[in-house]
Amino acid sequence: MSYRDVYSSAQADPESFWMEAAQAIDWVTPPTRALNDDNAPLYEWFTEAEVNTCWNAVDRHVEAGNGDRAAIIYDSPITGHQSTTTYAELQTQTAALAGALAERGVTKGDRVIIYMSMVPEALVAMLACTRIGAIHSVVFGGFAAHELAVRIDDAKPKAIVATSCGVEPNRVVEYKPLLDAAIEMSTHKPDFTIIFQREQAVGKLLEGRDFDWNDAVANATPAACVPVAGNHPAYILYTSGTTGQPKGVVRPTAGHLVALNWTMKNIYNVEPGDVYWAASDVGWVVGHSYICYAPLIHGNTTVVFEGKPVGTPDAGTFWRVIQDHKVKVLFTAPTAFRAIKREDPKGELVKNYDISSLQTLYLAGERADPDTIKWAEKMLNVPVIDHWWQTETGYAIAANPMGIEQLPVKIGSPSVAMPGWDIQILDEAGHPVAPGELGAIAAKLPLPPGTLPTLWNAEDRFRKSYLDHFPGYYETGDAGYIDDDGYLYIMARTDDVINVAGHRLSTGGMEEVLAAHPDVAECAVIGVTDELKGQLPVGFLCTNAGTTRSDAEIVADCIKLVRDNIGPVAAFKLACCVPRLPKTRSGKILRATMVKIADGQDFKMPATIDDPAILDEIKTALQSIGYAKD
Ligand code: COA
Ligand code: AMP
Repeated sequence: MSYRDVYSSAQADPESFWMEAAQAIDWVTPPTRALNDDNAPLYEWFTEAEVNTCWNAVDRHVEAGNGDRAAIIYDSPITGHQSTTTYAELQTQTAALAGALAERGVTKGDRVIIYMSMVPEALVAMLACTRIGAIHSVVFGGFAAHELAVRIDDAKPKAIVATSCGVEPNRVVEYKPLLDAAIEMSTHKPDFTIIFQREQAVGKLLEGRDFDWNDAVANATPAACVPVAGNHPAYILYTSGTTGQPKGVVRPTAGHLVALNWTMKNIYNVEPGDVYWAASDVGWVVGHSYICYAPLIHGNTTVVFEGKPVGTPDAGTFWRVIQDHKVKVLFTAPTAFRAIKREDPKGELVKNYDISSLQTLYLAGERADPDTIKWAEKMLNVPVIDHWWQTETGYAIAANPMGIEQLPVKIGSPSVAMPGWDIQILDEAGHPVAPGELGAIAAKLPLPPGTLPTLWNAEDRFRKSYLDHFPGYYETGDAGYIDDDGYLYIMARTDDVINVAGHRLSTGGMEEVLAAHPDVAECAVIGVTDELKGQLPVGFLCTNAGTTRSDAEIVADCIKLVRDNIGPVAAFKLACCVPRLPKTRSGKILRATMVKIADGQDFKMPATIDDPAILDEIKTALQSIGYAKD
C-alpha cells in the first residue's frame, strides 16, 4: 500500500485502523473499541482494555524465546564503559526493582520521580514503574533543584529513584545534593528514595529515607506485571509552557503501546532485532519514546549513549558507535550534527569507520536547517529524514514513512501528516487558509492514540492551552504552512517557548526568575538565532533607579540566578541592561521585534513606538554582548 492509501484508510475508518494496529500488542483484556468519545472534546483510546507496558516491552520477548537478544547496549565514552543487557537480564532487573518499590509501598497509580543520568538503570527504573502500574515522571538531570522541587510538588511522588551523579565532559554533576535540596524545598515529601550509586560521586544516604539500589534489589522479591486499564497514565513528562510552571503531559498506557509499536516499522522501517539508536536523553520525550519504549516494545536493541556528539572524545564518536554496534537507525537533533560539522567540516573522521549498517538518519526536536541536512546526506550517504513532533504527541505528527514508502524529500519540510493526523493551517479566526499561506498549525480532534488526553491535575489548563483557541482542534503552538503537495513546513512557535539545542525552554519561566532579582525593575527574555544551538536565550534587564550595583554585577547575578533556579540546560549566558523595553500601548513587550533586531531581519516600525531610539538602544545593547547581526 502507498502512503496515500494508508493515510486515507486511517482517515476513513480510524476505528478499524487502530484496532488492527492494536493486534501487535499483548493484552490482558483485549480492546472492544478503539476510540472513546464519551467525554468529547476530551478523548481516550482503548479505555476498556487491560494491558501492561513492561510486559510488552520486556517479558513477552523473553516468553517468545528471545531472552538472549540484546535489549540495551550501553556505550559511555564519557566514562569508558560499555555493556549489553539481554531481554532476559532486563526482565530480572526490572522485576527486582519493581519488587523493591512495591515492598516499600508503591502501588498502582502512585507516582515515582526518576532523576537519573544516562545509564541503563534509568530504563530499568522506568520499566519497573510501569511493571507495577506506578506512574513515573522522569526529570532531566540538567535541571536545578528548584525545578525538581516544582515537579515533586506537582506529581506528589511516593518515591524518587535517582543516580548519585551525572557525568558531563567538563565535570561530575552531583545529583544527590540537588535531590536533597529539592526535597528540602518541596512541600510534598516522598516516603523514600532509591539511589543508584555511581563511582564518580557516591551520594550520602539518609538513614531510613534513602536506600542503596544494589541492596534494595538484592533483597527484593521479583514483582509480576500488574494489568492496568488502557487509559491509565504510563507516565507524566513535564514540558515548558508559557509560564515557569511546567505542564505535566500525561501519556496513556494503551494508546502509547499501540502507536509507538506502529511507528517502528512504518516510520523507521526497522525489524525486531535491529539496532536502533536515539542519541538524546531519557529526560526528554525522544528519550522516553525512542530510547526506552518503542524499540523495546518492538523487540529492537536500543543504544543508551552517555556522551556528546563532540568532545567525547571527538567528532567521530557517533560514527564509532554506529560501527561498533551495527546501528541501523540513528535519531538525533540537528544541533548534534551542527556540532559535528563545526568540528569536522570535511567529514574526515567519517572515513575512519565502517558505517555501512546505517540505513537512515532521522532528525527532530527543532527546525532542521538545509545546510545541516545536505551535509549529513553527503557525509553518511543515507536518506536524512526530518520529522516533527512534540512532548504532547509522543511521536511524529509529520514524517516521511520510510517503512510504507519513501516519499520525495523536500528539504526544509518534515514531509507529510502521519495516519491519524488531520493537520490544518488556521488563521486567527480559526478558518483553514489556502496552501502556501502561513498560519497556526492545528490538528483536528480527536488526536490519534498515545497523544496526551490531558495535563496532570490540570484539565482546565489543558483546555485553555490546547483546545479553547480553535474549537474542534488541538493547537500545536507552532506556526507554518502546507504546500500544494501536502508537505508541512514548521516556521516558528506562536508562544514564548524557545528551542535551545533541541531542548524546549520557556522564556516566560526565565523572566520570572530574573524579575525576582532585587535590582531588576523589568525584564524580557527572547530567543535569538544561534548557529550551533538553533536558538539561545538573551535577557534584557531594566534596573531600578538608585541601585548601587553596576550593570555588570547585576548581569552576572542574573546569569547565576537562572543557572541556580532553572539549571545549566537553560544555557542562559547572555544578558544586558537597557534603559527601557519596547512595548505595545497595552504594555505588551515587543519580543518579536527584538528578535528581528537581534537576527538582523527587516521589520516594520511598530505603530506603538513613539521614539524609534528605543529600538536603537536594544540594538546597541545586543551589539555590546556580540549578538546583533547587520
Ligand atoms: N546533567 C547535568 N547537566 C547537564 C546535563 C545533565 N544530564 N545535560 C546537559 N547539562 C549541562 C551541560 O553540562 C551544559 O552545562 P555548561 O553550561 O556548564 O556547559 C548545559 O547543561 C547545556 O548542555 P547542552 O545543551 O548539552 O549543551 P552543550 O554545550 O554541553 O552541548 C550539544 C551542545 C549540541 C553538543 C548538545 O546540546 C547535544 O549533544 N545535543 C544533542 C541533541 C539532544 O540531545 N537533543 C535532545 C532532544 S532530541
Ligand atoms: P518538545 O516538546 O521538546 O519535543 O518540542 C516540540 C517543539 O519543537 C515543537 O512544537 C516545534 O516547535 C519544535 N520541533 C520539533 N521537531 C521539529 C521539526 N522537525 N522541525 C521544526 N520544529 C520542530
